[in-house]
Amino acid sequence: MTGKKTLKTGEKILFGIFGAFILFAVIAYAVLEVVRLKMDKPLFEVKTHYDLSAQGLQGSELFRLERCTSCHRAMRNGTNMGLSLDGLGSARDRDWIYRFLTQPEQTYGVKTVDHGAAPKEASYVAQMPAEKLQAIATFLSELKSDQGSSSSPLPPEGRSPFIDNMVKMWAPKDWDERYQDVRTKGEPSATQK
Ligand code: HEC
Repeated sequence: MTGKKTLKTGEKILFGIFGAFILFAVIAYAVLEVVRLKMDKPLFEVKTHYDLSAQGLQGSELFRLERCTSCHRAMRNGTNMGLSLDGLGSARDRDWIYRFLTQPEQTYGVKTVDHGAAPKEASYVAQMPAEKLQAIATFLSELKSDQGSSSSPLPPEGRSPFIDNMVKMWAPKDWDERYQDVRTKGEPSATQK
């Protein structure tokens, strides 16, 4: 047995970098928590809501049992890595959702990633019994979004400099002649000068 071993230079650098990362993460977490506790509004406002019917409740159980949560998220269930379905019912109606579940590609009108024919990973969904899919469609149609949420068709109430800037930067010049501005409901558009 030899005595104490000292670290090689490479090891010191490696552990040093590793330690710096951990230190940074701890400091960032502490700062975030302090900011969050000092705010009078919640950091992440919940802008979706639901009021489930009996069939919707049954659908929400199926949503978990049928492994939808391995790719989706709804009502605090499921993965953050996939597509969140919270608020879906404000953008799509029940018939659309049911049609999508049974005929994904025809309903989207473009190629899909996971829903569709085998060997796509979610191909099993379209094969599920109609009764279960009906219940799931009801459930998803009952997930609503509040105005201003990312899943809402309507932007937040009042003026938003952020949205004005995005419109200026990305929308084609004559967009407000061709489309109606949902923020002003018929009056001249907010960005028009
Ligand atoms: C393997 C991953 C996966 C699984 C499992 C899965 N999905 Fe999906 N889902 C997706 C992806 C990806 C999309 C986007 C469409 C596409 O490319 O397939 C999607 C889209 C959707 C949409 C359309 C949303 C929209 O507005 O565009 C609905 C509704 C949906 N899924 C419901 C379900 C339900 C219900 C289940 C369970 C029965 C389920 N999904 C299981 C991956 C998955």
